[in-house]
Amino acid sequence: WSPKRSPDYNMASEDHKWEFPRDKLKLDETIGEGEFGRVAKAKAFGMDGPEGYKCVAVKMLKNCDSNGELQDLLSEYNLLKDIDHPNVIKLLGACTRNGPFYVIVEYCEHGSLLQYLRNSRLEENGYINHRCRRYFRSQSESGNSTEPELLNIRDLLSFAWQISKGMQYLSEIKLVHRDLAARNVLVGTGKVLKISDFGLTRDVYEADTYLKRSKGRIPVKWLAPESLYAQVYTTQSDVWSFGIVLWEIVTLGAPPYPGVPPERLYNLLIAGYRMDRPEGCSDELYAVMQKCWKADPTDRPVFSSLTGIFDGMLQQRT
Ligand code: ADE
Repeated sequence: WSPKRSPDYNMASEDHKWEFPRDKLKLDETIGEGEFGRVAKAKAFGMDGPEGYKCVAVKMLKNCDSNGELQDLLSEYNLLKDIDHPNVIKLLGACTRNGPFYVIVEYCEHGSLLQYLRNSRLEENGYINHRCRRYFRSQSESGNSTEPELLNIRDLLSFAWQISKGMQYLSEIKLVHRDLAARNVLVGTGKVLKISDFGLTRDVYEADTYLKRSKGRIPVKWLAPESLYAQVYTTQSDVWSFGIVLWEIVTLGAPPYPGVPPERLYNLLIAGYRMDRPEGCSDELYAVMQKCWKADPTDRPVFSSLTGIFDGMLQQRT
């Protein structure tokens, strides 16, 4: 005999499974902030067993009376419950009762990929070529943690491969990210990348990143033409954004389409304009970006092929 469970019962048991006691969560500093949301580092006491605490990241709303944003955070919470992949941020719990709504996710010690790439630069402005970087790397591998983390080509290719793996998984479970960008990828221990930000935290400080719209802001420079003109978002428009992320990776976090005002981008794209090959980027890697930026979404590679391409490129370098 097995008891029949009503849908309501399932829902309650599911929520119970994720609920974390609010009094066992000690919020520390803010580590991410957007228009509507905030992410704080926190200690979750007893999360990994009765003793000690686990470092976690807690997403919350800035302004509790904004109903639309609460819906966004709730839908992100519900979405994260079903996600389980090493390259996608993992849900650890939530505080849904007796106070503000908190979503608890794994903490990534190196923060956003965008900042991580920028911190790895040896020069304040511009990016230096890869041969040069490899040379400097051998000089500074002294274990001094105040030195920037220097990245070689293998690291950069591994980043591309990991993001592609995470996106392949999301596409397999029929999830369209819509805001894939280096600012929305996190870097954890051992340079493990985690795709994050399913709809809430948006870095609004990068002046030309989001174009202001009635509902939120639009990350124009990461969007495929069909998303720009018809608000069509598919896995293949995520592939376009992935191409922009590749460009961000090889430039160590440069802002895309330098000097192009976002309102002019659409006309440039339909006229066939694409970003040039960045300095230090191989022809092989630039060819992948160009495929991601094909005007017809069906001409763009799918994530499983992209994973295979980066697998091959990494193997060439072992
Ligand atoms: N910034 C935003 N989310 C984060 C997380 N989960 N870990 C570290 N930094 C973050």
